[in-house]
Amino acid sequence: MSLITLGIESSCDETGVALYQMGRGLLAHALHTQIAMHSEYGGVVPELASRDHVQRVTPLVRQVLHEADISLEQVDAIAYTQGPGLGGALLVGASVANALAYALDIPTIGIHHLEGHLLSPLLSDPAPEFPFVALLVSGGHTQLMRVDGVGRYTLLGETLDDAAGEAFDKSAKLLGLGYPGGPALSSLAAQGKADRFKLPRPMLHSGDLDFSFSGLKTAVLTLTKQHEIDEQTRADIACATQDAIVDVLAYKARAALAQTGLDQLVVAGGVGANRLLRERLSRDIGKRGGKVFYPDLQFCTDNGAMIAFAGALRLAQQQGRKEYRFDVKPRWNLAEIG
Ligand code: KG4
Ligand code: ZN
Repeated sequence: MSLITLGIESSCDETGVALYQMGRGLLAHALHTQIAMHSEYGGVVPELASRDHVQRVTPLVRQVLHEADISLEQVDAIAYTQGPGLGGALLVGASVANALAYALDIPTIGIHHLEGHLLSPLLSDPAPEFPFVALLVSGGHTQLMRVDGVGRYTLLGETLDDAAGEAFDKSAKLLGLGYPGGPALSSLAAQGKADRFKLPRPMLHSGDLDFSFSGLKTAVLTLTKQHEIDEQTRADIACATQDAIVDVLAYKARAALAQTGLDQLVVAGGVGANRLLRERLSRDIGKRGGKVFYPDLQFCTDNGAMIAFAGALRLAQQQGRKEYRFDVKPRWNLAEIG
């Protein structure tokens, strides 16, 4: 019987719990999103996030055990998001994982949140094979990584300021849209005229694989001040914003494949749910004989499945520990982990 790993994600505004068994795959997964709670404030309130995780984790653990029809005693190891993320929120997952594992006398493994995201397309069929290039696009990160295997990550380029998701969120806010801005801006953009406004494509021709998105919100702000903001104008600005972000991401992802000589691109993180980005990448990279892999839509944004899965892969490398430490890492560089 191969090992059953319980995974717990609590780094930001989603509590995710899942059970993964090597050889059988995902046994069950459950998620509670705090979006409704934070939307009142226009963004994530860290203290509220932690308190909500406290209330949600245990019921979600019970739920996945029930759905997978197994008992807690059948769990062989517990993986949890150790960082990066909100300190208090991370501590909730780390405490529950370590307390449960201590009681059960089983190992724990702390997982890097972005490693969870970048390995999540391996949960789908067909799955990419190592080596591949990963475009990690979330609310906090925008990175291109070369992935040669589990724990073998080389940073190719990253944002120098705002993340792509942040650019979506901040522009959406300027357009009076709710939180999180990405999905809202993207659906408004569908009503917009593509050629009315043209926003800058920062660092498109910088010759490296880095990004910069902070100028975009200023450009959006300028547009909102220059024009009478009726429904059509808002949609047209949303359309131009999405187009600028997607254009830069697609261009640099193509350049990363060219630079590494690899032909598989994995797209992970919340912005990977963006339909235009998916279309553009599949079209551009497909034309050059490459292939693009995405996680299932439900595993694009934060979830427990990716943590249980990354944990299972690392446990297979004997990386679990019975040390039960509570040392979360709110700031943690993915390229540092081995
Ligand atoms: O990976 P994720 O769930 O959480 C972080 O680890 O940050 O990513 C959240 C980000 C938010 O900025 C959200 O606006 C963005 O992903 N996002 C989208 C879409 N869905 C989520 N951005 C553009 N289009 C979408 N459809
Ligand atoms: Zn994430």
